[in-house]
Amino acid sequence: MLRTHTCGELNEKNVRDVVSLCGWVHSRRDHGELIFVDLRDRYGVTQLVFNPEENRDLHTGAHKLKSEFVIQIKGVVESRPKDTENPKLPTGKIEVRISDLKILSESKTPPFEIEDTTKASEEVRLQYRYLDIRRPVMQKKLELRHRICKRMRDYLDKNGYLELETPILTKSTPEGARDFLVPSRLSPGEFFALPQSPQLFKQLLMVSGCDKYFQIARCFRDEDLRADRQPEFTQLDIEASFVEEEDIYVLCEGLIKELYKEALGIEISTPFKRLAYQDAMEKFGTDKPDLRFGCEIKDLTEDLKDVGFKIFKKTIESGGRIKAISVPGAAKLSLSKINELTKFVGEFGAKGLAYLKVEKGALTSQIAKFFKDEELNAIREKLGAKTGDMIFFAADKKDITLRSLGNLRLHLGCELKLIDESKPSLLWICEFPLFKYNEEEKRWETEHHPFTSPKEENMEKFDKDKASIKARAYDLVINGTEIASGSIRIHDRKMQEKLFSAIGIEKDEAQMRFGFLLQAFQYGVPPHGGIAVGLDRLITLFTKDRSIREIIPFPKTQKGVCPLTGAPSPVVDEQLKELNIKLRK
Ligand code: AMO
Ligand code: AMP
Repeated sequence: MLRTHTCGELNEKNVRDVVSLCGWVHSRRDHGELIFVDLRDRYGVTQLVFNPEENRDLHTGAHKLKSEFVIQIKGVVESRPKDTENPKLPTGKIEVRISDLKILSESKTPPFEIEDTTKASEEVRLQYRYLDIRRPVMQKKLELRHRICKRMRDYLDKNGYLELETPILTKSTPEGARDFLVPSRLSPGEFFALPQSPQLFKQLLMVSGCDKYFQIARCFRDEDLRADRQPEFTQLDIEASFVEEEDIYVLCEGLIKELYKEALGIEISTPFKRLAYQDAMEKFGTDKPDLRFGCEIKDLTEDLKDVGFKIFKKTIESGGRIKAISVPGAAKLSLSKINELTKFVGEFGAKGLAYLKVEKGALTSQIAKFFKDEELNAIREKLGAKTGDMIFFAADKKDITLRSLGNLRLHLGCELKLIDESKPSLLWICEFPLFKYNEEEKRWETEHHPFTSPKEENMEKFDKDKASIKARAYDLVINGTEIASGSIRIHDRKMQEKLFSAIGIEKDEAQMRFGFLLQAFQYGVPPHGGIAVGLDRLITLFTKDRSIREIIPFPKTQKGVCPLTGAPSPVVDEQLKELNIKLRK
């Protein structure tokens, strides 16, 4: 080893020890005759002292040191003089008097300072990601990522799960995104697809009798990127045989409890809340509600059926709904702010945003005069509105009212700081519909992937009333983010074919795309189910970052490119020829 200790390790107990340290020059300060260097590595910072009276050559050498040089030193640990101690650093009571210095590698001036806070743009940070990761704050995040993965492995191992790998070069698995394709040289004109998840292979492992499987698996999805979406991301993928929903809930809750303890030192209570999809939509306008604050959506259509306010009256007459939320502290919002919010809900289809202020127990605004007293009372009571609240209304088709108010609720919850950050909200969303109707393409799709089992009790409605069939699917939602998703699967070949057919995948196509699964389903299939936890999202939740890019060592930008390597990039004609590919100009 080139070092006896790390830069975060030495303290008063080491005084008079002769040590050797390696690391990066974090800073150099010349104080008259003495030169101080902060030496940094993953573990911390240690102060080095070069004294010309002790060794003039070394002192001259120290003048050459610049930020980010990699050096090796030898020296003696000494106590710092009383008034120069730094109580913020674990090594703040000591310094090392240097007896030997070796420059291991020089450095150009980095494009940004290696400090926790940086003004560098994300583009530059990603281009120089290796420097960005040197920042102590990033080191801590990646260390946390490691610890989380380690805990996951230990927990699942303890529960009898086997960690098994599944192929990256494979056939398409539908998870609702576009595939990344890889041309095959050996089979000209044919392509592998990178897996959107290990879904089908983990099901095959159940057919194989592997019984309890997990994998920290890379998934690839060519979709439009957002703060919580990357084209390649990591899942903790789990599958087990002979299980029911409750078994997956218990397994996952135990895991998440351990991870909260590891990451944040917080004891969370289990079992988690459960909310049926329908209730989540009605109360919060989303299937991933943040329950750390209230402002539930209430339906006022019945209470206002004879209302004088024209917009509402017309909406009700044409079969629409009147829904509202009451937002604490929003009565103080200015007119221009309300105009801004009206535009905001407009993005979700709302045609306006009527409101009533709650002032000294009374409801006021320009539209108040159109309501009878008993209507105002009913509104206030139903919403539990208090002085200082503002009530916002949406009058429209049901789905537009829910989407608008759901988004407004979250928007104002953040802006007005209504969210209690100290208590995480963990809940299962269950009772999902099996199907959803795609209005644009005029066809039925599955709400989750097409291997999700329907609830048996609704099977008689399969052909007649698709919208009412429920799935044996569940999502884990934490603080308003979908962290995990899973289901009990179909394990019957006929049922699987029936489901494919319901979403327009007829026999031939099913055979072509999923023939291997259907074939496997002829050889004794255990009932099985599982779940996948979005690892990047979970860690981001712990680090409270805005984007999963912060906790992925080498992520892609929002545009799906890698500024570090320049990928994707053109390839030479020779490579294309080998693959039998001709590019369109
Ligand atoms: P699903 O597609 O819901 O389910 O994915 C599971 C979890 O993975 C995370 N996730 C993502 N994270 C970052 N970037 C993305 N582009 C991205 N897409 C999804 C989310 C999500 O909850 N095979 C099924 C699981 C199963 O049924 O067992 C699946 O992949 O946190
Ligand atoms: P107007 O008469 O168009 O000025 O609208 C009166 C108030 O009703 C304004 O605050 C509008 O934003 C609001 N409003 C208009 N249409 C709707 C709607 N569909 N739902 C809720 N509020 C609306």
